[in-house]
Amino acid sequence: MSYDFWVGTPTCLIIFGATGDLSRRKIYPALFDLFLRGHLIDKTRFICTGRSDYSNHSFRELILSSLHSQSSDSAQKINFLSKFEYIKGEIGQVVKLIREKITPQEQLIFYFAVKPSLFESIIEAISETGLITNGDRHSRFLFEKPFGHDYHSSAKLNNLIHRFVNEGSVYRIDHYLAKELIQNILVLRFSNEFLDSLLSKQFISNIQLTIAEDVGVEGRGDYFDQTGIVRDMFQNHILQTLSLILMEKPATITSHDVSYEKLKVLKQFKVWNHDLSEKTLVRAQYEAGYINGRRVVSYLEEKDVESNSETETFFAGIFECATPRWHNVPIFVRVGKRLPKRLGIISFFFKNSVGLSEEYNLLRAFYSPSALRVIFQPEERITMQLFLKAYGSEFREQPAQLSLNVPDYFNIAFSDAYSRILFDALRGDRLLFASSEEILQSWRIVDPILEVFKKNLIPLRRYSAGSWGPKESELLPTRFSTLWENL
Ligand code: BG6
Repeated sequence: MSYDFWVGTPTCLIIFGATGDLSRRKIYPALFDLFLRGHLIDKTRFICTGRSDYSNHSFRELILSSLHSQSSDSAQKINFLSKFEYIKGEIGQVVKLIREKITPQEQLIFYFAVKPSLFESIIEAISETGLITNGDRHSRFLFEKPFGHDYHSSAKLNNLIHRFVNEGSVYRIDHYLAKELIQNILVLRFSNEFLDSLLSKQFISNIQLTIAEDVGVEGRGDYFDQTGIVRDMFQNHILQTLSLILMEKPATITSHDVSYEKLKVLKQFKVWNHDLSEKTLVRAQYEAGYINGRRVVSYLEEKDVESNSETETFFAGIFECATPRWHNVPIFVRVGKRLPKRLGIISFFFKNSVGLSEEYNLLRAFYSPSALRVIFQPEERITMQLFLKAYGSEFREQPAQLSLNVPDYFNIAFSDAYSRILFDALRGDRLLFASSEEILQSWRIVDPILEVFKKNLIPLRRYSAGSWGPKESELLPTRFSTLWENL
């Protein structure tokens, strides 16, 4: 779908849950970012709905307070805010009011930034009011996670949505797919054929993915305590990221073909050797500790967390993707809150080569092997670690690094993944959205893991806030004579 097409279409984005935390933290700053970049045309407007009492004026002030970190002149902010209108009320009443406000020419996009338990009543009201289409246009439906809490509930949710809406109008948000460097892995692989042939079981000894956050539950204790890190990060962000970066080259770069390839990966993805035990999986919860010299409380002391909660804030595991390309390559995954720093990194480690010097061959087990690393947050950098001859009269091999700061190279400011996601939804490009089948496949992987957690077959470990997780996690990769890298 081209940008030109969207430019000509008057668009109305209708946000349910407009006064919530997500809207304020992510959606308004992202829309403002699009506005400042000139991606929101005059004919785009926003109808925001919620249960709290706001006038248009006080609601625009609420949005303004969420834009504090974005610099711009006040005329721009006033212009942006004038696109917003607020409607308060019960869902049926709200949807009828929306019906009166829209014009037949408008493309409607409904954004469900609410709890999944509210999806049904909202979508039913939209259907009853005849807004599943507007004129001859199909409306679009944007859903925030969580998309179910297990396979069964996710299938039920899909069935519910499909009762009213075709899959082609459904946009399930996973903002990790919109991260620039995660997408860049596709170009790295498929537009540099030599590299793609190297990234396979023939040359790669193991893959590591770490998503570390230094923050805790950030005032969302209630949500997180019922969710845990496996559902919050692994089922969606991590499995979506891995399916994208491990897939084969799609026939075309369209949502249909990309989803087809991602699904093949998800279907072949499993815990290493199907061994759901302490040898392959670790779950843990943080205790009090220090991050950047600041003392932070334990998970159990966080607001709205049950005092005896067994919810995991850290998860690590060894996985395998049994496709012809990756079969038998261990994939180490680690994700956690209250780790020493924010870091998102994917590393492909090459098999150890036989070097030239005797010294190298004696010591090569102690050198970090050659590696391709993609650091996708907080900085965005691609590095290639290689062996070079150390300067001097002796013939000595030494690891060295080629390193590219991608935004610097393209001379462009970092843009938040949410801006990209919303821009794609506005112009109707579904490439970066997960399909119903992908989500179901992810739950197929996750359900048995949650089951062994529930049966306590994998004990809940503890780690100090500010550490890289429990010692059991450190031991995982040693099974394959390697270590986590903590950059
Ligand atoms: C959200 C999770 O989906 O992703 C949060 O609910 C998490 O718990 C966040 O902090 C991480 O996103 P990012 O882009 O900051 O890595």
